[in-house]
Amino acid sequence: MSERTLVLVKPDGVARGLVGEVISRIERKGLKLAALELRTVTRELAEQHYAEHSERPFFGDLLEFITSGPVVALVVEGPRAVAAFRQLAGGTDPVEKATPGTLRGDFGLETQYNLVHGSDSAESAKREIDLWFAGL
Ligand code: TYD
Ligand code: MG
Repeated sequence: MSERTLVLVKPDGVARGLVGEVISRIERKGLKLAALELRTVTRELAEQHYAEHSERPFFGDLLEFITSGPVVALVVEGPRAVAAFRQLAGGTDPVEKATPGTLRGDFGLETQYNLVHGSDSAESAKREIDLWFAGL
C-alpha cells in the first residue's frame, strides 16, 4: 500500500544548498518523487499551510520565514511515506529532538530554521497536497 506526503525544503534549506541532500536521502530511503517544484510562497498559501498554528506565538515569525525565499515543494510517495519522511526529517527541534543521522539533526541548529517540512498524517498530507498541487 502506497501513500503520499508533502515535503518542503524550506527557505533555509534552499539557501544553504541542501536541496540535493534532501532529495538524495528521500531516494536512498526508497521513496519516489511524484511532483517537484521551486516555488515562492505567498502569504495566503503560508497561512493556509500552517493554519493549525494560527494561535501559536511563533505563527507570525513562521509566516515571515516561510515566505522569505523560494522553497522546493515535493510530493513523495511509497509505503508509509508520511512516517518514513518524518523519520528522515527528525524531530522539530534540531538539537533537543532530532537525532544525528536525520536531516534536522545533521544540518539544523534552531527550531525556526529546521530545513524541511513533512506532513504529519495521511489526512494532513491529502489537505496539503491539494493546497500545493491542486489536481495532482
Ligand atoms: P510543528 O508542526 O509543530 O513542527 P513540524 O514541522 O515538526 O511538524 O511546527 C511547524 C513549524 O513551526 C516547525 O517546523 C518550526 C516552527 N516552530 C517554531 O518556530 N517554534 C516552535 O516552538 C514550534 C513548535 C514550531
Ligand atoms: Mg507540523
